Amino acid sequence: MQNLDNLINEYKNAPEIFQAGRYWKAYEDKIANEIKNADIEQLRSGKYPIFGTFGFCESVYNYSINMPVTTKFIKKFIRKLFITNKATLPYSLRLSDIREMAYNYCLVQGQLAKAKSIAEIETSTFGNPSDLFEIKGKKYTMQFLNFYVRFCFAQQYLNLKGDETLVELGSGSGFQVEILKKIFPWLTILCFDLPAPLYLCEQYLSKALGENQLVKSDRTLHATDLNAVVEKGKVNMFGNWMFPLLKTFPIDVFWNGASFGEMEPEIVKNYLSYIKGNTQSVYLLQARNGKESSQSSGVVTPIRFSDYNAMLDGYLLIKESDAFEANRRMSQSGGYFQAVWKKEK
Ligand SMILES: C[S@@+](CC[C@H](N)C(=O)[O-])C[C@H]1O[C@@H](n2cnc3c(N)ncnc32)[C@H](O)[C@@H]1O
Repeated sequence: MQNLDNLINEYKNAPEIFQAGRYWKAYEDKIANEIKNADIEQLRSGKYPIFGTFGFCESVYNYSINMPVTTKFIKKFIRKLFITNKATLPYSLRLSDIREMAYNYCLVQGQLAKAKSIAEIETSTFGNPSDLFEIKGKKYTMQFLNFYVRFCFAQQYLNLKGDETLVELGSGSGFQVEILKKIFPWLTILCFDLPAPLYLCEQYLSKALGENQLVKSDRTLHATDLNAVVEKGKVNMFGNWMFPLLKTFPIDVFWNGASFGEMEPEIVKNYLSYIKGNTQSVYLLQARNGKESSQSSGVVTPIRFSDYNAMLDGYLLIKESDAFEANRRMSQSGGYFQAVWKKEK
């Protein structure tokens, strides 16, 4: 836990532009406090709903955090009706059908992307995911399949060979990194995030991939030159305020999934200023018309697809489409896009 406190201290001393915007300010202290009391072994069990804000949401049914008694009753009722795998949904669907369809969708997406098949990889069970299921002898969660689908879209245009350097900002749970490393074990990955998600992400990834696959943030915390700390073929963890170190670092892919949208435009522009020019490709998956915004909560200024496209001057949009999870369209916040840009020659 000392490392989390060290990360928070360094973050608090960083310039204002690296502090969370209004959307994330509402979560950061709550997440840090929850981590201090949490049983990490139960990270994915649904016991800590606040961890769901950055990806650890692996329940079959997602209920609101403060449930009144009547909702608890409804929850019990729904579970009885569906979770026992009865064919009570339209077209006589059962939970196992939904999982199998999602798995089959992944099989096809993998073929389209000419990528390692979903049948050859499986999820880690660390953190006791409540949505764990098995197909053809391998373990999955819907989240694992979702991040595989994101990868398949990107891979059709990135054509990664496996020895590249990829930078992810706002890695959250680390599920995308888990997929990437299980497909390409020699990929060099640099993850940047706010202190509390970063701390939990490295706890998870060191179990999911193995301790020796990670260069943890306690080893990078005081770095002044990336070349001195980054280990090739490993997952290297950094606090978000260390992003300026990337300014002269060659990057093959910059990756941001559902994270820029939860920042303010000037924060996003600042991050991009350190990777534009030195990154070959950019992958974004974001709310198409921006995240929620009201007088007192959410983002102050939503960022839309056209804003990202304008910020990425010097890059050519290769492909953009609506984003899908393994079992459904990403329809929260009015729909998401997924897109790849490449540096103009
Ligand atoms: C919704 S989560 C997305 C996590 C993951 N990429 C995914 O797709 O599940 C948003 C992520 O953005 C990060 N984030 C929010 N504001 C940030 C900021 N100002 N600087 C760096 N990271 C930030 C959060 O810590 C969190 O990991």
